Amino acid sequence: MCRPDHFTVSYRINPWMHPENPTDTSLAVQQWQRLHDIYVDLGFTVELIDPIAGLPDMVYAANGGFTLDGIAYGAKFTYPERQPEGPAYMEWFGANGFRVADPVETNEGEGDFLLVGDVILAGTGFRSDSGSHRELTEVFGREVLTLNLINPSFYHLDTAIAVLDPEPIPGGRQNIAYLESAFDEPSLAILRERFPDAILATEEDAAVLGLNSYSDGYNIVIASRAKDFERQLRERGYNPIGVDLSELLLGGGGVKCCTLELRR
Ligand code: ARG
Repeated sequence: MCRPDHFTVSYRINPWMHPENPTDTSLAVQQWQRLHDIYVDLGFTVELIDPIAGLPDMVYAANGGFTLDGIAYGAKFTYPERQPEGPAYMEWFGANGFRVADPVETNEGEGDFLLVGDVILAGTGFRSDSGSHRELTEVFGREVLTLNLINPSFYHLDTAIAVLDPEPIPGGRQNIAYLESAFDEPSLAILRERFPDAILATEEDAAVLGLNSYSDGYNIVIASRAKDFERQLRERGYNPIGVDLSELLLGGGGVKCCTLELRR
């Protein structure tokens, strides 16, 4: 995670961002701290990267890369405003025990790449180039499923899909939740085939980035305003934990965006 010490909205690279409106950095830090403390209470080890002045979006650590099997595939950001974050995160990975795979293709890390068991769901359409999906296959040797995003408000895959069961379930099926309207027809066909029991999120919940959540397979940290999603998760036996990240939503990010999983 990356403390939002320098968080603000000073440019607009997604429809959520309104640089003309004020932001409250100390409130962002307070809300982020709450998320951090929830992870600690759940027993996770949280590692921190130092925030850099002038990189207000660095708090969205999910975009810093994608890690698996001790390898960190670095990010190469779409917009110049965020490009310096790529090397900063790669430096952190290198210093913290990862073998770093330098990216050739444009990609925004775990914002667009979600691991479900042995399969990597990979988004494209707004940020990560589909070439990065090929690169991802080469780096990790896993199956990569390309999904096309079509709604600019859900510009990263992690705004449109929530992985509910990150680990394989013995004798069972791993599940996800997603927003149907965020995908084109071929991608929906893939999702319906692979995840027939998926939770379908409401537009209302997606509009507070409710899908942008973190699950350990039982505890699922979600936006506290995503009420229907919360209900559906509870019905299916998960333990949703609500958190209010309203200030970070002004930059177009939620729970998952602030969280990069380290798979050593
Ligand atoms: N303002 C950031 C951007 O537009 C938000 C990133 C959100 N991160 C995410 N994983 N969805 O790049």
